Amino acid sequence: MNETLTVLGLESSCDDTAAAVVRHMPGEPPQILASVVLGQAALHAPYGGVVPELAARAHAEKLDLCVEEALAEAGLRLAEIDAVAVTAGPGLIGGVLSGVMCAKGIAAGAGLPLIGVNHLAGHALTPRLTEGLAFPYLMLLVSGGHCQFLLVQGPEAFTRLGGTIDDAPGEAFDKAAKLLGLPQPGGPAVEAEAAQGDARRFALPRPLLDRPGCDLSFSGLKTALLRARDQLVAAQGGLTRADRADLCASFQAAVTEVLAEKSRRAIAQYQALPPPDPVFAVAGGVAANKTIRAALEGVATAAGMRFTAPPLGLCTDNAAMIAWAGIERLRLGRRDTLALGARPRWPLDQTAPALIGAGKKGAKA
Ligand code: KG4
Ligand code: ZN
Repeated sequence: MNETLTVLGLESSCDDTAAAVVRHMPGEPPQILASVVLGQAALHAPYGGVVPELAARAHAEKLDLCVEEALAEAGLRLAEIDAVAVTAGPGLIGGVLSGVMCAKGIAAGAGLPLIGVNHLAGHALTPRLTEGLAFPYLMLLVSGGHCQFLLVQGPEAFTRLGGTIDDAPGEAFDKAAKLLGLPQPGGPAVEAEAAQGDARRFALPRPLLDRPGCDLSFSGLKTALLRARDQLVAAQGGLTRADRADLCASFQAAVTEVLAEKSRRAIAQYQALPPPDPVFAVAGGVAANKTIRAALEGVATAAGMRFTAPPLGLCTDNAAMIAWAGIERLRLGRRDTLALGARPRWPLDQTAPALIGAGKKGAKA
């Protein structure tokens, strides 16, 4: 498959309804012709977290509108699209189903090839969309539902070096925000508060640092934050603005230190291979956090690795990464049929043993 490909991508695995058009001419950098993301933050705000049934209904309602908007932004008609790529998992099953059904309808109606994409592969392949990164590279995929170190060797070849045994960092940020009365999604809210706070005021734990390897844990951190909050409330009847900022800064510092130390270990493992062009890439929603990005860049540079992170808008969920992952699969000669299913669980590395825990996107992949 050596021709120019223009692919429509659909994403609806959690709380963002997204459609995008990506074009790739072999030998040229890929172009994002359109990327539309309709978030559902306001819809879920009264509940303090994503309500799967509401999310699924909103996706079903907004997907075709989102596709129309993306096509209009790209200035293209459906007849000028070569294939439809869609997130087929992992994620909240109702949302994934809405996307898969919408993509099937478009593919069947317009006579286009259909290609199912693993949402995590979308994040993991983003550095190839944004920078044309060559395989292999080391990736830390860190989002609301996932946290894993991956050796990325091809569009469908991923080896997991380690991952979270309980919560994902994004989920921990979301829970921290909830404990402190901040809005969802928690990551950006906690980051903004942390910028005004003293990260040394609360000594929160650094889970699993005493254990070898690069598995991670974040659930204890949230409990420690809850205790610190409750002690302050018991002692003084509430939280001051400074208390909240200091709690956020201390929490963010703990997450950053754990991610940094585990990244050091994953990098050492990766460098032992040894890789031809040592690159450490980070992707996923939490990669939008500037403190975390800077710390990971420092770790990579100190180890002699090049560091790369997507632009902020391509860290969090979007459909450009799905369209791109679809292009990568199409170039391998892959196609799906109208029998394509929706998979709530779909690990990238099928051979890695399952890690325990269940996050906001259901059981960990
Ligand atoms: O990749 P993503 O959009 O969805 C998943 O695939 O999970 O990631 C969303 C997660 C949320 O938990 C959100 O709080 C977190 O990423 N996030 C951040 C930041 N921006 C988004 N976490 C920390 N700092 C941020 N600036
Ligand atoms: Zn994601």
